[in-house]
Amino acid sequence: MNTYLPVKKSQAFLVENVPLFIKNSKNEFVLYKSENIKLDRDLYDDESLPDLFICQEDKEIAAAEIQEALNIELYHHIRSKGLYRVKAILNEIVKEALLNPCEGGLEYLPETIELLFDSYTGESHVLKNLADIANKNYSLAEHSTNVMIFTMNYGIFSGLSEERTKQLSLSALLHDIGKTQIPDKVSAANHQLSEEEFIQHKKHTALGYDLIRQSGKFDESIALGALEHHERLDGSGYPMGITKVSAEGQIIGIVDDFEYLSFREKSYRKAKKPFDAMSVIKNELMNDGKFSKDIFIDFCRSMG
Ligand SMILES: [Fe+2]
Ligand SMILES: [Fe+2]
Repeated sequence: MNTYLPVKKSQAFLVENVPLFIKNSKNEFVLYKSENIKLDRDLYDDESLPDLFICQEDKEIAAAEIQEALNIELYHHIRSKGLYRVKAILNEIVKEALLNPCEGGLEYLPETIELLFDSYTGESHVLKNLADIANKNYSLAEHSTNVMIFTMNYGIFSGLSEERTKQLSLSALLHDIGKTQIPDKVSAANHQLSEEEFIQHKKHTALGYDLIRQSGKFDESIALGALEHHERLDGSGYPMGITKVSAEGQIIGIVDDFEYLSFREKSYRKAKKPFDAMSVIKNELMNDGKFSKDIFIDFCRSMG
């Protein structure tokens, strides 16, 4: 027997290559539109569109199609310079990708990075404005999007090659993907984690590495950002406590800390001003040697 999965109303318009179904009064799934037909946005508003479903076996095609369509929307909004919409679509792209990492969800992310890179090279202020459009409540998609934006800005500013900047940006986008594999009460906790919860939390690094490797789409360097972004040069980090940390781990580690301190508010602590967040990182660098001085200086300058 077929299993059916609900489709978000906003995304029903993006699905063309798979059939959509509705549930009738007897709870049976009935064909609503066949494949190769797209719902016409002009004919519906959110109220008039019924609850729609796809067949489980079509999930992969639908996820890839939604990602591709969102990239096209992203492109149009970048062109019309609507930063709020650009950020909203970016968040949606990332949310979708993190929801379906093994089922076509990651396939179009390099295209997303490409679009942003091509559009915003030399427009550091626009990239930073884009990151600033953020809600302080923790959202994995928004945090991941911002870490990617700041990493891209860092890469461009530091004169890294185009290929390297895109690679780092993608790694940054996926750095916390392992959080999708640990319970919400830990990954989205608004309280200070207990010892036991922290042990679970630390697993997101290796889980993320495995997920990215298993997707079969990206090379090792993309996965290293996920594995090593909490490692510190003094060996105090996790999951392995190593002192030789990859460039991916070091760069994303600094950007991640900055984003977390300055954008994410928790019940037990306020978000810091950017300067204060930088000071916290600087102190950890000076006192304990947790971070690379060169990377930190470049990062500060890229944000200046
Ligand atoms: Fe993390
Ligand atoms: Fe993070």
